[in-house]
Order: sequence, then structure tokens, then C-alpha cells
Amino acid sequence: MTVSLAHLRRCSVAVDLGASRTRVYLKHQGLVVDEPSVAAVNAHSGALIAVGSLAEKMTGRTPEHIRVVRPIQAGMVVDIEMAQRMLRHLLGGQLRKAWRRKPMLRAAVCTPNGSGPLAQRAAVETMYGLGSRRVELVDSVIAAAIGCGLPVEEPEATMIMLAGAGTTQIAVMSMGSIVAAETIAVGGDAIDHAVVQHLRNTHELVLPSQSVRPLHEILSAPGPIAPSAEVQGRDVASGIARTVRVDTEAVRQAIRMPMATLVDGIGQVLRRCPPDLVADLTDRGIMLAGGSALLPGLDMMLRQATGMPVTIADRPDVCAVRGLGAMMEGHPVPMPLDPLSV
Ligand SMILES: Nc1ncnc2c1ncn2[C@@H]1O[C@H](COP(=O)(O)OP(=O)(O)OP(=O)(O)O)[C@@H](O)[C@H]1O
Ligand SMILES: [Mg+2]
Repeated sequence: MTVSLAHLRRCSVAVDLGASRTRVYLKHQGLVVDEPSVAAVNAHSGALIAVGSLAEKMTGRTPEHIRVVRPIQAGMVVDIEMAQRMLRHLLGGQLRKAWRRKPMLRAAVCTPNGSGPLAQRAAVETMYGLGSRRVELVDSVIAAAIGCGLPVEEPEATMIMLAGAGTTQIAVMSMGSIVAAETIAVGGDAIDHAVVQHLRNTHELVLPSQSVRPLHEILSAPGPIAPSAEVQGRDVASGIARTVRVDTEAVRQAIRMPMATLVDGIGQVLRRCPPDLVADLTDRGIMLAGGSALLPGLDMMLRQATGMPVTIADRPDVCAVRGLGAMMEGHPVPMPLDPLSV
């Protein structure tokens, strides 16, 4: 996927359609939308009831006639019509204003590294439905690397791990191009799922999805970790709410498996890199971006497993859309993504 900076500069809206959150950056205005990619619809009439954080709060709490849906899964728009309705509501009047100023609205959208033609087509169709006349697709890892300020255009290696909700993308870049990359279908959601599964198997407790985050926080609390923590959930058999004491070390063990997959991914990418670039990376290390970079202990685990320095990007969750926005505004040191056409 190669795109010219000249084309990107003509775009007026940048969109990152994530499995967990949708982010929109409007030219000269900045990040105007950062909301969960969730919509609540009336199953009988099809009417949209809520989108974004309001719809997310409804997850697992709705009566039968209200469905809470996620139109984007693993970095791919799986329900184009619903994604368009969701985006239209999230943007509200802002898109109409931008559209009036620039009738030939051009949009930039980032798609996961290695995404197939179907996923790319779905992203393009979604934006067409919102009134875009042209859609530029940019690789998420390139956008995120620019968004976290990596000098991607230099003739030296930079490594980024973009850990989202559904996918983790790992790439080594040099001179504005990807040298080696890998996309793994494991992200923050898989790690949360491992915690939920562990509590179900060992304590016969069903944990509401919103309760996983506090458990992560207990695991990462500064100082010595408490050997156990109290967790509230629902009994698998009786359905009655109950509180159990969970062994924190056992929870750590449970999330070790999905985390090890991420370390394997780093190994695979490094094995495909020329030795000179790998030598650069020993000093420079790995930049950790994406919302799951905030998962407590992930950076430490990667540091221990790889022996390389690991840095968490500033605002890692919005790196990709910020990078897209920067390319659109022409702020970054011009990066010859496609030197012949610039
Ligand atoms: N403070 C935090 N602590 C732990 N996990 C977090 C935190 N903030 C976000 N996450 C996790 O990060 C993930 C969301 O990351 P991000 O917003 O990058 O995903 P996305 O871009 O929507 O997904 P994808 O790129 O996979 O399509 C979720 O799994 C969420 O649980
Ligand atoms: Mg993402």
C-alpha cells in the first residue's frame, strides 16, 4: 500500500476505524472523535438508539429488543451500513461543516498492515457512503510510527508494535518503508478474554467485561503485588452475584500465553530483517503504541523477553490517527512514501 504525501495533503478528514474505538481527525481542527466503535439498535424497527460511549455502557444491560453491535472487528469493517450510521452520528454537524467547505471531500483511512482487498474495499465503501469522493488508504503501522514521532525516513531501523484491541501489528521500518512486518490476531481483547476464562475455570465466576480493567490495575500497582484480590461476578451455576478472592499470580500466569504470542511475533519480524537493521534496534529498541500499550506490565514483559529497550509512546492509543492527521497537514518531515510521485 503506497500513497503519496501530495495526495494525503489534499485530504480533509482522517479516520482510524478500530475494533475498539473510532477516531476522526479533521484538518485544521484536530481529533474531533475518539469514541468506542459501538452502536445500539432497536432489533424490531432498526432505529439507532445510541452510539459511542453511551452504547458501550449498554453492553450486556439491554432488554431483548435492543442489540448492541460492533460494526468493526479485528481492524475490518464487517457491517458497512452500520459503520456509516455510527460515524454519521459520531461526527454530527462537524462533517457537514467540513463537507460544505470542501465539497470534494477526500478522506484518509488507515488499515492494518497486510489487510486484504476485502478489508480495504470495506473501508473505502464506508467512507464513500459518508460523502467522500476519494479515499486514500495508509498502512496503520506507518501512520502510527509518524504519530509517535519515529524518524521513519532515516536510513536506520525503527521498530514499532501497534497493539490494538483485536490485532497487534509489529513492523521494522527504514527509509520510509516497511522492511518486515507481522500482524497477529491477538490484542488487548484476547488478554482480557484470558482473564475472564481463568476466573470461569478456576472460580466458576462470570466476570462482566468492564471489570477486567480494575484487575489489571491491581496487578500493576506500585510496590509488592498483593497476593490476592477481591473480584465480584456472577456464579456460573446459580447465577447469583458473589465475590471471590483471586490469586494475582495465577491471573498473571493466565495472561502469559497471549502475551507470549506477541513476543513470538517480534522474533518472527526480527528474523526477516537484515543484520545491520537488527543491530540498530538493539540500541533504539521497540516503540509500543496502540491502546493495549497501556496494559500494565506489557512493556516490562517485552523488555525482559527481548532484552531490548521498550518505550511507550506518548498517548499511544491515538498514535495512528495523529500520524494520519500530521501527514494530511503536511507537518512531519516529508517522508518519501512514494518519492517518485511527490
Ligand atoms: N489504560 C488501559 N489499560 C489497559 N488496557 C487498555 C487501556 N486503555 C486501552 N486499553 C486496551 O486497549 C485496547 C484498545 O486499543 P486501541 O484503541 O488501540 O484499539 P483499536 O484501534 O480500536 O483496535 P484495533 O487497532 O485492533 O482495531 C482495548 O483492548 C483496551 O482494553
Ligand atoms: Mg487501532
